Amino acid sequence: MGFEHTSVMPQQVHEHQNLKPGNIIADCTLGGAGHAFASVRSILPGGMLIGIDQDLDAINHAKKILHPFKENVLLFHSNFSDLPKILSSNGIKGVNSILLDLGFSLNQLKNGKRGFSFNKNEPLDMRMDIRNDLTAFDIVNSFKESELVNIFFKFGEEKFSRRIAKKIVEKRRQALICNSSELADIITGVIPAKYRFKQRIHPATRIFQALRIAVNRELERLEKFMEIVPSLLLKEGRLCVISFHSLEDRIVKQALRKFENGCTCPKDLPVCLCGFVPQMKSVFKKPLVPTKEEIKINPMARSSKLRVAQKI
Ligand SMILES: C[S@@+](CC[C@H](N)C(=O)[O-])C[C@H]1O[C@@H](n2cnc3c(N)ncnc32)[C@H](O)[C@@H]1O
Repeated sequence: MGFEHTSVMPQQVHEHQNLKPGNIIADCTLGGAGHAFASVRSILPGGMLIGIDQDLDAINHAKKILHPFKENVLLFHSNFSDLPKILSSNGIKGVNSILLDLGFSLNQLKNGKRGFSFNKNEPLDMRMDIRNDLTAFDIVNSFKESELVNIFFKFGEEKFSRRIAKKIVEKRRQALICNSSELADIITGVIPAKYRFKQRIHPATRIFQALRIAVNRELERLEKFMEIVPSLLLKEGRLCVISFHSLEDRIVKQALRKFENGCTCPKDLPVCLCGFVPQMKSVFKKPLVPTKEEIKINPMARSSKLRVAQKI
């Protein structure tokens, strides 16, 4: 099945990337390559787009979509945490733009066959990079009850985490939980009816999010990446991050605040001892959000937020 192009906030991202001919840019989450396709034309002639995705399907798709620009594109089946290595092994000192469009793609949800969707009956996998070992099946069927509770609370902010973990452990004693719809049914059965009917989202949404984040170590990787962003950007280079839930947005917001503030010494210290200086400046204080029209066309954009910062 083909990829669908539903890049989130395409105009806003394009405008704020501030691209110029000859720029070297990194799209660290290629997905359907919609953003990449729009960006690459703005850096011609002479520019280079470094495209990364941890999902091989996305890389293969990007190869086709970006074929007309192949002289100006380098693609890597990698985690974005590998960007420093990718840059140094290609003799690149820094880039003019970094784009992170976090989370999973519509293609992974609809055609991935890896159990990302609670509306489908697929093997419980949820790996974006199938070279990794840990799957959602492993977590659901072998992690201790307390570890499940922890994952569900921390990455899903699910208030029924304890009840759901208990039921999963009960069920897996009878038979292993192998498929996404089996898991979705277990979760739905645990959530009290009065909450189920009040919620606007499917009762399994938060637990599926939590499992996906744990399997792909999403927050840990984002946090590490954000720590080194200024070292990857050239002067006046821009970072654009699209996040889809508050856990991701918090990491981005806090990292940017640290880079904007510089010195972390107590206010009453007469001289700075930490040596931190401001390295980035946010382009706008509040994140941008999609328009109602965009959400109508692309419901996946509903919870997205765009933050943009520039290296000083
Ligand atoms: C929301 S989609 C990107 C959509 C894309 N911007 C477009 O225009 O179609 C997110 C993509 O990022 C990839 N991804 C998520 N986290 C990643 C990571 N840490 N390293 C590399 N790729 C990642 C996923 O595999 C997925 O294909």
